[in-house]
Amino acid sequence: MEHLIKEAEAFVKDRFKEEVTGHDWLHMERVRKLSFLIWEHERAGDPLYIDLVALLHDVDDDKLASKEHTHTLKDWLINMGVQQDLMQNLLTDTANISYRKGIRSLLSPEALIVQDADRLDAMGAIGIARAFAYGAKSGQMICHKDDLNDRMRDKGSGSTVAHFYDKLLVLKDLMNTKTGREMAEERHEFMQDFLCQFKKEWKE
Ligand code: ADP
Ligand code: NI
Repeated sequence: MEHLIKEAEAFVKDRFKEEVTGHDWLHMERVRKLSFLIWEHERAGDPLYIDLVALLHDVDDDKLASKEHTHTLKDWLINMGVQQDLMQNLLTDTANISYRKGIRSLLSPEALIVQDADRLDAMGAIGIARAFAYGAKSGQMICHKDDLNDRMRDKGSGSTVAHFYDKLLVLKDLMNTKTGREMAEERHEFMQDFLCQFKKEWKE
């Protein structure tokens, strides 16, 4: 598996080299690191397989699909000569890590750890930076007038501040592992503080 990890590193580094919406190579590196940290506490599953899932988890994300990237993860795995059962496990795990489309019951113990790591990277200071980068690239507003009042806001408003209420502030309660839950606390609080200051400045 070590050899495949090296190949995956090169593949993902190249594939995400021009990514500016927060799904760049450094996101994959952080998810690997966070996954390993969680694994060290939880000791669930094979750390080498965790590393592979962390590296490959965003390859097939349709948000990131571009004209240049016509090859899917499956194409790459076939090209690498990966065994049938490892290939199936990787395809199922990477397809189900996503917040929007994932089915949690299909995830392996290793992928549950990577999902926590991926969510941690969407929270805290880094998560805030990624959300605004993604929002700008997808052409959405920073904030609409009513988005700062959770009761008044239009749920479909689609601003980046609305995305905090729609998704980022619920992540802490969706963590799979005890370690992930603990790590999510500080990042969650930081996002709350950020929104609090944002509201304060908005009203000045
Ligand atoms: P998942 O694949 O788990 O659904 P996403 O790929 O949707 O996760 O999200 C990954 C990153 O993109 C996160 O940092 C998230 O905040 C950001 N993101 C996704 N959708 C939006 C959005 N509508 N506005 C701002 N940021 C977003
Ligand atoms: Ni990701």
